[in-house]
Amino acid sequence: MKETIDRLRSEGLERIKAAESDSDIEAIRVALLGRKGEITALLRGLKDVDPADRPAMGAELNLLKVDLTALLDSRQCVLRGGGSATNMVGDLTLPGVPPTSGGTNHPLLSVLDSICDIFYGMGFTRDDGPEVELDYYNFTALNFPDDHPARDIQDTFYIDPKICLRTQTSPVQVRTMERNEPPLACIFPGRVYRNENADASHSSEFYQIEGLVVDKAVSMADLKDTVDTFVRNFFGAEEPTRFRPHYFPFTEPSVEVDMQCVSCRGKGCGVCGQTGWLEVMGAGMVHPNVFKAAGYPDDVYTGFAFGMGIDRIAMLKYGIGDIRLLYENDLRFLKQFRGVS
Ligand code: DAH
Repeated sequence: MKETIDRLRSEGLERIKAAESDSDIEAIRVALLGRKGEITALLRGLKDVDPADRPAMGAELNLLKVDLTALLDSRQCVLRGGGSATNMVGDLTLPGVPPTSGGTNHPLLSVLDSICDIFYGMGFTRDDGPEVELDYYNFTALNFPDDHPARDIQDTFYIDPKICLRTQTSPVQVRTMERNEPPLACIFPGRVYRNENADASHSSEFYQIEGLVVDKAVSMADLKDTVDTFVRNFFGAEEPTRFRPHYFPFTEPSVEVDMQCVSCRGKGCGVCGQTGWLEVMGAGMVHPNVFKAAGYPDDVYTGFAFGMGIDRIAMLKYGIGDIRLLYENDLRFLKQFRGVS
């Protein structure tokens, strides 16, 4: 058996050196290491070898298998246009083979980055707050009455009666105002949590980005201009926006901001539920009680705030129909966003 092993080693080396294509490599691999290959047959025959010689023979055979596999791999690298660090057959001076499957940003992160960039361009800075938040910042300081349904245990993950997972990025408004004097223009991106049953448009964790501007004489007109600038820059078109009256405890007046449907340009389609409009964010003028909670005089300053769901914006931008895809880490889905920003 020893002679057969030596013969296969030298013949194998010659054949691998002479291989000129992927199919040559495959043919050699099958002939030597395939199910009916010569080396495979020898490995099967080990049981008939004298038990005293068997361990040494087994080790020799395994070594042969490992060596020839490495040679086949490195020859294949060379044939595909590069050398490799373990190149034993080809030219050692050739550069390595570039990796074919590099990492990539998650689509949510790309969208978050480009949203932040647009606001940085308008002079906003960024601040962050904790995901495990005091009920005080998540609700009380934002003017939520004690019996407001949003505090309900069914929506909010409570850790104890005073601590919850934040349900919105709005609490960072108050934390930032406590630490900074006006004027300020700041964005607060981050992850939020709600006790929702997952379906195509709901997830128990998702991302929001919050914005806050406080100064003397800030008005709804400033809010409208900021929103329009964002939509124009992010979606790359002059999509009209509209304000619809709404209610949020921490803003007065409050609005929901819609933009014309990117898919049908306002005609009405499946994406916009035939309305021609897509809701992009909630917004409004900062409520005096929020200024009070933050220690700002409410008769000197005014401000606007807005908050939007990043998942929704990413889904609109890339035509993603199911929010769960963003959290499943399925590489087949994620790889589609390589090089996309
Ligand atoms: N926090 C709100 C939500 O999660 C979104 C929101 C609405 C944020 C209006 C704001 C705002 O800053 O002014 O539904």
